[in-house]
Amino acid sequence: MKDQLIIFDTTLRDGEQSPGASMTRDEKVRIARALERLKVNIIEAGFPAASVGDFEAVQAVANIIKDSTVCGLARALDKDIDRAGEALKGAAQSRIHTFIATSPIHMQMKLNMTPEQVIEHAVRAVKRARQYTDDVEFSPEDAGRSEEDFLCRILEAVIDAGATTLNIPDTVGYSIPQQFGATIANLIQRIPNSDKAIFSVHCHNDLGLAVANSLSAVMNGARQVECTINGLGERAGNASLEEVVMAVKTRQDVFDCQTRIDTREILTCSKLVSSITGFPVQPNKAIVGANAFAHESGIHQDGILKNRETYEIMRAEDVGWSANRMVLGKHSGRNAFKSRIVELGFEFGSEAELNEAFARFKQLADKKHEIFDEDLQMLISEASFEAEDEHIKLIALKACSETGETPCSTVTLRVDNAEVTGNAEGGGVVDATFKAIESVIQSNATLELYSVNNVTTGTDSQGEVTVRLEKAGRIVNGLGADTDIVTASAKAYINALNKLHSPEQRRHPQKSDV
Ligand code: KIV
Ligand code: ZN
Repeated sequence: MKDQLIIFDTTLRDGEQSPGASMTRDEKVRIARALERLKVNIIEAGFPAASVGDFEAVQAVANIIKDSTVCGLARALDKDIDRAGEALKGAAQSRIHTFIATSPIHMQMKLNMTPEQVIEHAVRAVKRARQYTDDVEFSPEDAGRSEEDFLCRILEAVIDAGATTLNIPDTVGYSIPQQFGATIANLIQRIPNSDKAIFSVHCHNDLGLAVANSLSAVMNGARQVECTINGLGERAGNASLEEVVMAVKTRQDVFDCQTRIDTREILTCSKLVSSITGFPVQPNKAIVGANAFAHESGIHQDGILKNRETYEIMRAEDVGWSANRMVLGKHSGRNAFKSRIVELGFEFGSEAELNEAFARFKQLADKKHEIFDEDLQMLISEASFEAEDEHIKLIALKACSETGETPCSTVTLRVDNAEVTGNAEGGGVVDATFKAIESVIQSNATLELYSVNNVTTGTDSQGEVTVRLEKAGRIVNGLGADTDIVTASAKAYINALNKLHSPEQRRHPQKSDV
């Protein structure tokens, strides 16, 4: 029997720390449900002490999820640990994850504490967390730049205090695989009570090495990997769950452990996280990118036709790709629509929600005859985006583009209950449309990102547009989809404006206080 490799997903906590990736409570619950279907062992749902919104999100996830352990992050402070303990009360299985920095630069410059004081705080935090749950994880933040002797001392002390998982974070993505793996092996070997805890790793991707470092750690005895869907996370992100899981599954000749992940759920999770956060997945992204299983060159195609293993090391269907299967069309009924949506892992909160989604489906089917799974996923994600706060709604759009003429656009919006029209010229029709919207709304927000992806293939595919806006330090991502990319762009821009308009539910966890 091989060991189990525990998959700890932190999309809802570290992933959310990506600028613009803030999620509402309901969005977190939807992703948590998808993660539970994926069979991740642990879902880190947030940082309860960071804000009331985050507390409530962790509480909601804890109350709903049954098959995965729900975890809350806490600095090594009594008040943080009490907040986490309270938020997790309703969980079937709960974990508190507490951390304090251990690198010389963090201890001196950020904490202004001596190493002895840091150990004291860590031990106290772990003991306090044990009053709420038997499952306590401790992380020495910036372990990648900490001294190994000091790590041994603090980790031995927290195991004695009751920590059951020791997570070694490469917080700033500084490590190199061989060296990081050796550190894990040394810690396990040098810490006298290391057999009483599971060693975990949490790698950031600043040098593009997060997955490589995580796998090297696994080869050296780590039995938990912290990761995120699509590699979302602070700065360059965290190790990507799908890459770690598929590497371990595909190379069972090399790894002496296995995960319990249902890999067929990977793609659904990836799309859900991408549409909720507004972070598109690059086409050449391993496992979940649109081109991950596309073979373009004739030599490759020929090889694949003769025997797929000539060029394929994994099967696309094993990670949830259904090869653009046409699933529904214009004549499909409500029941067929509902059952396909449920098969894709979505749940309708009410009959009204189902009716609303079905009406959207009919509109789409009028424009696009073949409706694929990807279209349905987009339709549901878009509906949930809009449901958030419909302060501004697109009523009509007319965009003109003619060779030799300046592109222009006229938009009619409903702003609260009043209908208003604006028009503008621009460098292109999308530019003109955004300017026309701004002529009405005057948000003064800065456009930080505009990207378009096709949802399926073909020129009748829906375009999926992401718009990132920044205003007074707040960053939001908006999403829109339509068979017409100018309309999709307008929807995405308005979606982002609606998010800016709604009160900020959550703030990013501040790790700098301790
Ligand atoms: O990167 C990091 O150090 C973290 C810790 C809180 C584990 O996210
Ligand atoms: Zn992190």
